[in-house]
Amino acid sequence: MRHLMSPLDFSVEELDKLLALADDIEKHPAKYAHACDGKILATCFYEPSTRTRLSFESAMLRLGGQVLGFSEAGSSSAAKGESVSDTIRVISCYADICAIRHPKEGAPLVGSTKSLIPVINAGDGGHQHPTQTLTDLLTIKQKKGRLDNLTVGLCGDLKFGRTVHSLISALVRYKNVKFVLISPEELKVPSYIKEEVLDANGIEYKEVEKLEDAMADLDILYMTRIQKERFFNEEEYLRMKGFYILDPKKMALAKDDMIVMHPLPRVNEISVAVDDDPRANYFEQAQYGVYVRMALILTLLEVQV
Ligand code: CP
Repeated sequence: MRHLMSPLDFSVEELDKLLALADDIEKHPAKYAHACDGKILATCFYEPSTRTRLSFESAMLRLGGQVLGFSEAGSSSAAKGESVSDTIRVISCYADICAIRHPKEGAPLVGSTKSLIPVINAGDGGHQHPTQTLTDLLTIKQKKGRLDNLTVGLCGDLKFGRTVHSLISALVRYKNVKFVLISPEELKVPSYIKEEVLDANGIEYKEVEKLEDAMADLDILYMTRIQKERFFNEEEYLRMKGFYILDPKKMALAKDDMIVMHPLPRVNEISVAVDDDPRANYFEQAQYGVYVRMALILTLLEVQV
């Protein structure tokens, strides 16, 4: 039995296979419509979500399975003091696979230790969001045709943005990927990522504050929102909010084939005027999240189609 806690839990070869499966699912959905007949997915979400929870549920329903779960801690027995590991141990009796999101870093990992079924980290605090990374990798592969030889700009809240941490960890395994880290001083990528992931793998990167200074070099611009829920004080959040707003004027500085990605939700960091630009890919990215989660469910349940 396998769990998914980090994108690194899969080797590059396994990731290639999973992305190829997601591609086949997109092209031939009918082939997979009964692949999970009789199987149940539990979604245990202790933090709000639209995309991750609903795309997981959509994925299982499209595979012929069924879903159960809770979308806030207050409607589960966590409100009575039950531990995550007890909850997941019990959920193991009701479902075949479980996706868990929790505000505390490491909570899904703790839950997985007592689980009898595969557990998927659907986001743990400011730490990791591996299924968003699978979604991002699939989007890059489909839109750019490759995962190597890319200059990737990551912009916004690089300190608390768990999607950024997971994506950097995943992309450093591909050849000649460079990063431009675009953030205010206060929201820079944590030093453990710089030292243990970027420096340790000899990855070329630079840190800049102005988005305009980076635009022309990028193959991918990955925008993120300022993570309000992780700030200790409102005043600091309000100071950071609005630091970056991608608008048509800034888009004019970019390459014609650059793609804009965003894990969403968006607050105000991408102007709606950018949505109609053919380089804007964030809504398609959300769609790819369904195919890749279908592929992940099949992989972890070891279902052959
Ligand atoms: N991208 C993402 O994790 O979105 P949700 O918070 O809506 O799940």
